[in-house]
Parts: sequence; structure tokens; C-alpha cells
Amino acid sequence: MSDLILQTPRFIHASNSPEPNSSILIRDGVIEAIGPLDSLIRDDSDCARKTLHIDASNWGVLPGFVDAHTHLVFSGSREDEFYMRASNRSYMDIMQRGGGIHKSVRSLHQASEEELIKRGLYYLDQVLRFGTTTVEIKTGYGLNFQQEEKMLRVINKLDSLHPVDIIPTFLVHALPRDLPREKAMQTVLQEMIPAFRSYAEWFDIFVEKNVFSLAEAESLVGRAHQSGYHIGLHTNQVHDVGGISMAIDMGARHVDHLEVLRPEDASRIIDTPELYSVFLPSAEYHVFSERVGHIRELLSIPDRLVLSTDFNPGSSPVLAPPVIMSLAVLRYRLSDPDLLIHAFTRNPADLFYLQDRGRIAPGQKADLVCVELDNAHQVPYWGTLDIVAATVKSGTLYRFHHDRPGALIRDSLP
Ligand code: NIG
Ligand code: FE
Repeated sequence: MSDLILQTPRFIHASNSPEPNSSILIRDGVIEAIGPLDSLIRDDSDCARKTLHIDASNWGVLPGFVDAHTHLVFSGSREDEFYMRASNRSYMDIMQRGGGIHKSVRSLHQASEEELIKRGLYYLDQVLRFGTTTVEIKTGYGLNFQQEEKMLRVINKLDSLHPVDIIPTFLVHALPRDLPREKAMQTVLQEMIPAFRSYAEWFDIFVEKNVFSLAEAESLVGRAHQSGYHIGLHTNQVHDVGGISMAIDMGARHVDHLEVLRPEDASRIIDTPELYSVFLPSAEYHVFSERVGHIRELLSIPDRLVLSTDFNPGSSPVLAPPVIMSLAVLRYRLSDPDLLIHAFTRNPADLFYLQDRGRIAPGQKADLVCVELDNAHQVPYWGTLDIVAATVKSGTLYRFHHDRPGALIRDSLP
């Protein structure tokens, strides 16, 4: 692998403010140094090594995004429900009548592993295109043993095929509708949770009224904990069934959605140092929720706040982190752009115990996003434009933009 120098970007969103006109030297997939160009070149004593110099003067550089919550492996799509929700059918009502998640379950059962891998690679290319270098992917559209295992094999295969790093999660999304409830519970408890630990280190469950009772969720999470998974929860999205106390009692690492949150639960989250809160503004938006994620009550713990896409065919057909940041400003009235960036970079990296990424500093993995902007605060502001010019993943540069602004139009003129 050749070395890479990103020469004099307009700005670098680094842990320690670099000197003005700094460049970034990348060696063996790792950030080696940040500083004035001559100092980096002088340090480059090994003449046999090839160094690729990239003019980054039209770009700003941020840490690659870490997307902590997605359902990226699925089959089919659910635009019908998008419009049904626009005419006042609720997300949960559609699910209880066999649509929603259950529609994705039916499609996934029909799909071969090859089809799911092909589709997954298509979305992962877009993940990289939007500047995300690490992405969590959940199961949850299989429901039974065989189909959930198929999803886990696909997710692990995608990790081996695509440069983006993948964190697999076994998600118990619902119980199959064609089995007696008690039997289905026993299969998850006794068979799936222990067997799937070899495919996934993370466990998640949809703690919600009419999906899992608190007692059921407690027994499943308890078993997952015994089997050695780290725990995250979809909870407090539509109803509060006591998921926050359970998460804290069971040592969960993260709680996601939090659209309904009692003040005493917000205080408990603040007082639990290892617990992260993940907010999914696109999912709120796309299910026409009148509730708003309670991030403002947690602003005293900025290092444990995470934003994610929740990319999935139902509640969030959005994959671009800057769009999510923009929605977070609009929906939550967040006014600190650095918080928004940290919530998509170092905070989710810390959530997953990934100490080697999420920051721009010597020794960190060279996972970077290069944006065609004047300053980092423009990322959420111009978030819905095509701002990512290139992504660096483990030291390899993937370029997306033309060098000459307007080239698309000019080249097509006679
Ligand atoms: O995070 N709320 C539950 N699960 C997902 C949606 C998955 C789907 O609708 O397919 C969520 O919103
Ligand atoms: Fe989700």
C-alpha cells in the first residue's frame, strides 16, 4: 500500500487544532502525522516507499462517519407504507396487520443469499459515497432460526467483501406470526441467542407495546447477556414500557429512539456513565411521529449522544449522515455543530469500544471524509447537497467528484 498525503485541506476537524495549512500523512492505513507539508516530506526518510500526493485544497477533512444503527440488509421496498402513513395510518398499526416489518420478513424469506449480498453491496457503495467508514447492520427480518442465520451469514460476508467495516448485530425484532408465542420465545432463548454469538457480538431487541412485554424482553436480554453479547435496545419509540430501567439494570451499552422519556429516566441515563443514547431523527420524520427524540434533556452528556441513520426500507430510507445532522438541527433545535459531528464520529466509535477510529489524530485509522465545504459547521447546513468529494477508508482514497466544478454540464455542451 502506498503512502498518501492529503495536501493542505481547507480545514481539518481534528482532536487537537492543527497548525494552519497543515497536511495529513497516511502510512499503512493509519494517520502518521498532521503538520506543515515540508515537515511531513522531510520525515519521509524511506525513499523506496511511494507516496501519493493529493491536492486537498478544495476539501475539508473530517473523521469518517460511524453509523451505529442500520437495518441495511433487506429485500424489496415499502413505499406503499410511506404513503399509507401520509394518510394517517400509524407505523405500529401497519405492522400489527401484517405489514411493515412483517412485509420485509416475507420478502427476505424469498431472497437468496446471493441476492441479499448483491443488494447489500449496492447500499454499502452508497455508505462509502456518503462518507461512512464503519456501519452497524442488524438482522431482524428473518425472525426464525434459519432465516436469521441467513442474514448473519450475509452480513459477515459483506464485511469480508466491502472496504467499509461492518459491526453485525443480532436483532430480535418480533416473533414469527406463524408459531405459538411461547414456542417461538423458547427457540429464541434456547437456540438462537447462544448459537448466533459466533456471528455477532451485539444483541438488540425491539422493546415496544404489542411486540415484546417487559418480562419477555428481560428474559431475552438476560440470556443474551449470559451468552456474552453487548446489549443495545430499540426502546421508548412509541410507548414507554420500562425499557430504560431494564437497560440500566442489565448493563446495556445503548438505548435507541427515546421519543418517549420520563424525566426520571433521563436522569438515570445521565447518571449511568457507560450508557449511550442513539437518536434517529429520520425514523421519527418518516413515520410522521408527533413526538421528538428527547436529546435536549441529555445535553449535559454530549460525549454519550449518538446520531444514526436507522437506514431501513420502512421507517428510514435515508443513508446520508449529513442529512441526518440537518434533520437533527431542524427537529431537535440543536445549535452546536461540533456536537452533531461528534455524534456521528467519535461518540459512536466509543460506543462500540473502537478506540482506533472516530478522531483525526496520529495513530488513528485513516478513515476520513473529504467534503467540498469552507468549514465543518457547513456539514449539517449544506447536508442535503452532494458534499462528499472523497472518502478515505483504511488509507485507500475513493474519489467521487469531478476536479472541475461545473464539468458535468460543460462536458455535455457541443
Ligand atoms: O428502528 N422500530 C423498529 N425497527 C426499525 C424499523 C424497521 C422497519 O420498519 O423495517 C426502526 O425504526
Ligand atoms: Fe432501527
